[in-house]
Amino acid sequence: MKPPIALITGSTHGIGRATADALLAQGWSVTGIDREASDLRHPNYQHVELDLCSPEVDRAFARVYQTLQPELTVHSAGIGIMQAFWASSREADQRLVALNVGATYAITKVFAAEAMNRPTPQHLILLSSLAGLSATPGMALYAASKHFVSGLAKSVHAELAVDAPWARVSSLAPPPVRTQFRQHSGRAARSKRIRGVLEVDVVVRELLLLHRRPQLDRIPGRLHRWIFTYIRPLIPSRMLLRRVYLSAKSD
Ligand SMILES: NC(=O)c1ccc[n+]([C@@H]2O[C@H](COP(=O)([O-])OP(=O)(O)OC[C@H]3O[C@@H](n4cnc5c(N)ncnc54)[C@H](OP(=O)(O)O)[C@@H]3O)[C@@H](O)[C@H]2O)c1
Repeated sequence: MKPPIALITGSTHGIGRATADALLAQGWSVTGIDREASDLRHPNYQHVELDLCSPEVDRAFARVYQTLQPELTVHSAGIGIMQAFWASSREADQRLVALNVGATYAITKVFAAEAMNRPTPQHLILLSSLAGLSATPGMALYAASKHFVSGLAKSVHAELAVDAPWARVSSLAPPPVRTQFRQHSGRAARSKRIRGVLEVDVVVRELLLLHRRPQLDRIPGRLHRWIFTYIRPLIPSRMLLRRVYLSAKSD
C-alpha cells in the first residue's frame, strides 16, 4: 500500500520540522518546502527549495501541489516582528505581509481550486496564532496577519463544506512555542527559560489530532486553551493590553 502523502511548508525548523519528523515516523511520505536546504534525511522525505515570498509562489506551489496530490498540507512557514508597529522597517513589514498573508493566500487558493477538481480527501491546516484571535500590542502587524489566516480558514472551510465536502480547512492557534521563531523574528534568544511557553511536541500532537478531527482556531495546550477561553475575558481589556505591551517592550 502506498503511504499517505503530506506537504509541509517551513519544514526546516520549528513546528514544520517537528511535524515532518512525526509524520515520517508514522509512515507518511513527506515533501517539505522551505527557502533553505534541509538536513532531514529519510527515504520518504523530499525537499523543495522555494522562497514563499517570491512573486512566483502561486505557480510554483500549484506545480508541487498538482504533482503530489497530498492528503494533508500543513502551512507552517511564518515570521513575526516583535517591535512596536511604528518602529519596524517597511522592508521587514513587507516581508511579513508577503509570507504570512501573501503565501497563505496563494496556498489556500491553490488548495481550494484543486479541491474543486479532485474529489478525494484533502486537508489544509494553516498555522495561525493566539495573536490571530486577539489584540497583541508589540506584535501588531503579526497579529493582523494571523487574523487574516484565521479569518480565511473559517470562511473557506464553510465554502468547501458545501462545494467540495471531501476537502477540509483547519487552523491551529498556538500560544508562544519553544522554537527559533523569536530569533527568526529579529529578537535575541531569551537568556533564561520562561514559563508558559509550549514545547513543540505538544503542538505537533495537537496538529496530528486536528488532522483526524478538523477544527478551526484550535489552541494547543489544555491550560493555555482554558486560560484564553475562560480567564482572559474576565480581565479588563485596557489593563491587560497595557500589561502585554509593557512586558513585550521589556522582554
Ligand atoms: N513559535 C511560536 O511561538 C509560535 C506561536 C504561534 C504561532 N506560530 C506560528 O507557527 C508557524 C511556525 O512557527 P515556528 O515557531 O515553527 O517558526 P520557525 O522556527 O521560525 O520556523 C519557520 C520556518 O519557516 C521558514 N520560512 C521563513 N520564511 C520563509 C520563506 N520566505 N519561504 C519558505 N520558508 C520560509 C523558515 O525557514 P528559514 O529557517 O529559512 O527562515 C523556518 O523553517 C508560523 O506560522 C508562526 O507564525 C509560532
